[in-house]
Amino acid sequence: MIIARTLEELTAARATLGDVGFVPTMGALHAGHLKLVEAAREAGLTPVASIFVNPTQFGPKEDFARYPRDEAGDIAKLEAAGCKLVWMPGVEEMYPADAATSIHVAGPSQRWEGATRPGHFNGVATVVAKLFGQIRPQAAFFGEKDWQQVQVVRRMVADLLLPVRIVPVPTVREADGLALSSRNAYLSPEERRAAPKLHAALQHAVKYLQQGKEPAAILHHTRMELAAAGMVPDYVALVQAQTLEPIAALQTPARLIAAAKLGHVRLLDNLPIG
Ligand code: PAJ
Repeated sequence: MIIARTLEELTAARATLGDVGFVPTMGALHAGHLKLVEAAREAGLTPVASIFVNPTQFGPKEDFARYPRDEAGDIAKLEAAGCKLVWMPGVEEMYPADAATSIHVAGPSQRWEGATRPGHFNGVATVVAKLFGQIRPQAAFFGEKDWQQVQVVRRMVADLLLPVRIVPVPTVREADGLALSSRNAYLSPEERRAAPKLHAALQHAVKYLQQGKEPAAILHHTRMELAAAGMVPDYVALVQAQTLEPIAALQTPARLIAAAKLGHVRLLDNLPIG
C-alpha cells in the first residue's frame, strides 16, 4: 500500500492505479470503514482511502482537537483490507491560506444534523469535492450510518455534474445493534451498555410503522423510549429518504433517522422502512 502525504506523491501514485473506488475517512478506523474498502474491492475497483480530520466540518465547541487519532493502526487496517493507496494530507494541502471558496449544498443539508451543527455540511461538501478532485475516483463509497451525509454528497455530485458514482454501504453494527462509530470510544462502560437502545427503539418504530400505526404517535413513543434509556433525543423523524424532508404518512422511499445524546456523546442512527 502506498502512503501519500503530499500532492506530488498522490499524483504519482494515482497515475498507476486505473479505476479507483474511493473511501474518504477521518481515521480511527473500525470495521464500518473497512466495509467500505471491501465494497470498493467487490465492485472491481482499486480501493483508495483518505484519512483527514477535516477542521471545517467541526463546530467551535465540537471535538476536533480530541477526535481519536491512530495513524499506525489505521495504516495496518487499510493494508490488511486490501487498500492500495492512502492519502494523508496535512491541513495546508487541503486549505490554501488564502482560500475563498466553500461549497454550500442547500436541500438535504438543511434540517437535522445541518440544523444542530451549523456549517457542518459545508465543511463536508467542501472537503469531499476537494478529495474527489485530487483522487479522481470512478466511484466513492459512503456509509449509510451517516444517511444525511450520503444524500448531501449525492446532491452535490448531481448539481456540480461531478464524474463520480456515489455508492451507499449498509451500516455495520456491533452484535448488540450499536452502529460502529469512532466516537463510541468516548462512551463510559455504563453508557456503552445503554447505547444499543437507540437501534432497538428504531427497530420497534419501524415495526409499528410497517403495521400501519400513526407515524406521529410512533415518533413520540420512540422519544419516550430513548428518554427512558437515559438519552436526550435531539430528533427522531420520519423523512423522505433523499430530500430528508419530514413526512406525515408512510411513503417510499422513507427513512427513520435519529440523534440522541448519551452523556456527552451524540449517537446517530437510521433505518430504512419497507
Ligand atoms: P468518518 O466519520 O471517518 O466516516 C468515514 C466513512 O465511514 C463515512 O462514509 C461513514 O458514513 C462511514 N461509516 C462510519 N461508521 C460506519 C458504520 N458503522 N457502518 C458503515 N459505514 C460507516 O464521514 C466522515 O468521516 C467525514 O464526514 C468525511 C466523509 C470523511 C468527510 O470529512
